[in-house]
Amino acid sequence: MRSRAWVVGALLVAGCAGAAVGVRVDSVETFVARHWRVPLAAQGPPPARFSPLEASLAPESCGTCHPVQFTDWRTSTHAAAMGPGVAGQLAEMLVREPATALACQHCHAPLAEQAPLLPDTLTANPAFDAALRARGIPCAACHVRHHERFGPPRRDGSLASAAPRETLPHGGVTRTPAYLASEFCRGCHQFGADGYALNGKLLEDTYAEWKASRFAATGVQCQDCHMPDRRHLWRGIHDPEMVRGGLTITLVDDEPRAAGAVASRLVVENTGVGHRFPTYVTPLVIMRAELVDAAERGVAGTRAERRIGREITLDLARERSDTRLAPGERAELAYARALDGTAVAARFSVIVYPDAFYTGFFEALLRQGAGRGEEDVRRALDDTRRSAFIVFEAFSRPP
Ligand code: HEC
Ligand code: HEC
Ligand code: HEC
Ligand code: HEC
Ligand code: HEC
Repeated sequence: MRSRAWVVGALLVAGCAGAAVGVRVDSVETFVARHWRVPLAAQGPPPARFSPLEASLAPESCGTCHPVQFTDWRTSTHAAAMGPGVAGQLAEMLVREPATALACQHCHAPLAEQAPLLPDTLTANPAFDAALRARGIPCAACHVRHHERFGPPRRDGSLASAAPRETLPHGGVTRTPAYLASEFCRGCHQFGADGYALNGKLLEDTYAEWKASRFAATGVQCQDCHMPDRRHLWRGIHDPEMVRGGLTITLVDDEPRAAGAVASRLVVENTGVGHRFPTYVTPLVIMRAELVDAAERGVAGTRAERRIGREITLDLARERSDTRLAPGERAELAYARALDGTAVAARFSVIVYPDAFYTGFFEALLRQGAGRGEEDVRRALDDTRRSAFIVFEAFSRPP
């Protein structure tokens, strides 16, 4: 766990190797407020001494010198944040409601150079780079402002530069502890107090859920779980290992009431997710019990289920239920049955549908007509249907 001393300190003064001058470091809140003020400003012209490679905002360019981060990033959902589901919707929206489309891009493709239109006049943006837009949340969105590089302290905690900055590629880097703090992620993973809410709860409330948890109390940041060893993978609900790592799932066998019967309880506990499991309205998790025959086929009419998720209507107008698990909470599915007919055992499973909401949403959008985005939305719908996986499966047999 990292030292939290710097979070409260408003100003730190660190010795700067190479030059004996003090470095002023902003507090996390000051840095985040400036760094993530949306819409982000255009980078402007690069310093004259920059080579074309140093001036480029393309993730591949950064990847020439930072291959480890690039190899990770390209597999992440951040790199896919302008995938067909988003791009398909924005195609029509850019024509009908351009200001809304630009607001979507604040989280999905945040650089000024990724916006087809200027935010104030809604006319064509001369700095627009269509290829960069397709890259979703590129390196530069988190690390570059006015061509200046910003990044975390060195792993030893120091903020010093390895050499005089002007001698380093891209003029070196301004290091600041804000990169290690959950507040760095907040702008895109937490709606503001006046944001869209249902049943008195914001639609996106991940930071606040984390803040209320024992993880925040003990200094465990988003990055500690989602960027371990500074990896740029950001695994979450789409990754079976990540989901399994956040939960403790147990099957407890009870004493059946009669011979040839099963009685068990499937328990899912949120022991390692730093916010609600799941945090968003879009995934759905199903705990399932059913009898199976000798070939492990489910026996009709024997299925019992319990849902974990925050289910809302497709028009986002109403919350149907909220059965998510806050850190420390558990859900239980008790199942007791006689094994008659072809049944030989009971199967207990936990199934994750990371994109459950979007499956219904894209279906509805296509029925209503997705216009210019039709082809993309069809592709996105297929993707949502393929993303489900089983995180747990076990059988219970009569003693
Ligand atoms: C020509 C090679 C080169 C290119 C291209 C390049 N970098 Fe760097 N970068 C470096 C070097 C060398 C350092 C180490 C500087 C230091 O030690 O102070 C560095 C440091 C950094 C750091 C601080 C990392 C740390 O070690 O703490 C970040 C963040 C960063 N670069 C981001 C980027 C991004 C984003 C891009 C693309 C927009 C990019 N760089 C393009 C060479 C490059
Ligand atoms: C405050 C940041 C934020 C804004 C603004 C935002 N999104 Fe998202 N969006 C997210 C996050 C975080 C996720 C991932 C979690 C989820 O699925 O809810 C996401 C997921 C999605 C997905 C599913 C993933 C995918 O790539 O298919 C779609 C589609 C989407 N958003 C569309 C939009 C559209 C359209 C808008 C504008 C009307 C918008 N978003 C505005 C943060 C945002
Ligand atoms: C969503 C924001 C985000 C994006 C996108 C992103 N980074 Fe980072 N990067 C971070 C954060 C946060 C850290 C510090 C993580 C930590 O220390 O736990 C970091 C750390 C780094 C470091 C320092 C690594 C080290 O070992 O000290 C480098 C270099 C870097 N990023 C380069 C890149 C490059 C290159 C890309 C694109 C291929 C990229 N980043 C994309 C947020 C981002
Ligand atoms: C510029 C906005 C932005 C920032 C900053 C940002 N994210 Fe995201 N994040 C998104 C969006 C948008 C998505 C959904 C992308 C999609 O699927 O279309 C997402 C998705 C994710 C996911 C979901 C993976 C999954 O399985 O669905 C995780 C985990 C995540 N982000 C963690 C972080 C962490 C940790 C930080 C801070 C270091 C961070 N994000 C910073 C916008 C952002
Ligand atoms: C203690 C570890 C831990 C911390 C701290 C943590 N997460 Fe997670 N997060 C997980 C695990 C495990 C999952 C996978 C299970 C799930 O989806 O809830 C996850 C999933 C996610 C997802 C996927 C979408 C969803 O509906 O669940 C997003 C987005 C996310 N985290 C963002 C964040 C952000 C932003 C922070 C900081 C405010 C954060 N996480 C803090 C462990 C953590």
